Amino acid sequence: MWSAACAIGQSVRVNESSENNTVERVGVVGAGLMGSGIAEVCARAGRDVIVVEVSPEACERGRSRLVGSLDRGVRSGKLDEQARDAALARLSFTTDYADLADRQLVVEAVIEHEPLKIDVFKKLDAAVTDPAAILASNTSSIPIMKLGIATERPEQVIGIHFFNPVPVLRLVELVTSLLTSPETTERANGFATEVLHKRVIRSQDRAGFIVNALLIPYILSAIRMMESGFATADDIDAGMVEGCNHPMGPLHLADLIGLDTTMAVADSLYAEFKEPLYASPPLLSRMVEAGLLGRKTGRGFYEYGAR
Ligand code: CAA
Repeated sequence: MWSAACAIGQSVRVNESSENNTVERVGVVGAGLMGSGIAEVCARAGRDVIVVEVSPEACERGRSRLVGSLDRGVRSGKLDEQARDAALARLSFTTDYADLADRQLVVEAVIEHEPLKIDVFKKLDAAVTDPAAILASNTSSIPIMKLGIATERPEQVIGIHFFNPVPVLRLVELVTSLLTSPETTERANGFATEVLHKRVIRSQDRAGFIVNALLIPYILSAIRMMESGFATADDIDAGMVEGCNHPMGPLHLADLIGLDTTMAVADSLYAEFKEPLYASPPLLSRMVEAGLLGRKTGRGFYEYGAR
């Protein structure tokens, strides 16, 4: 079952049945910034986690990102070496969706591209055999209904939206579609609050949900301000850090989120509401086309050393 090229630890079967309605076996699709963070917090919470990626190389990159984050946690005294090793032993990587058959919860965390996410949900619907399994998306902006109706079980599809860095930020947005069942919502809420110790806020199924509907126009305004020559990137960011006590300014934050993700969320918001404030500024579009995606590529509004 395990892809040898990708396996980094032994699978630990904590509980073979879903009878007691708990979630012991988790799947995560995508091991980028968000997927690796979600896998990390689930494994640290004692869950058996299988991560699906597209290739052995992508599995290895995800594994390295995850180990790097766990090591940062150890260095900063947030967890000890034993807890790090135990979390790693609960994590496996694979390229085969069939390995998710017995998962009780799967969180999709692939890039913010609607056709790709719909395809992932079709694959999950075919692969996950637990009839009560929750199929969740970490989407920042794509309506959950569109993902739900790609499956035969839209009542079990829900948005569980984490924030970057996932091991550090407490918030989770829980997003229910018109078809999500109350049972799915309560199980997902219980998992996020009692197992992951996250603070859950609930949103209806509108593009951007709560946080991105507020955050993205703010970031786009900062980009327009810089693009027009009104102020420098440093001064815009310093304004919000020093003047409003934000942990980082909007351009640094765009680099952290990834400029491709920032633009994809803006596009979803614009498609839904047709408001000019959600339209991607030309500078953002050009930077994404140029591959200047922020921290993950080493250059966005700022330059970053090797990651
Ligand atoms: N496990 C546990 N703790 C960890 C950790 C890990 N794997 N990695 C880091 N930490 C802890 C560190 O120990 C440190 O804790 P203390 O403050 O108690 O010392 C803390 O996390 C911060 O880490 P750093 O010292 O490395 O970094 P920093 O102080 O420069 O803060 C930051 C970095 C957390 C990113 C901070 O700048 C911040 O919160 N920025 C805003 C981030 C934000 O707004 N994110 C949301 C983006 S929107 C999104 O994600 C969703 C979307 O839909 C687009």
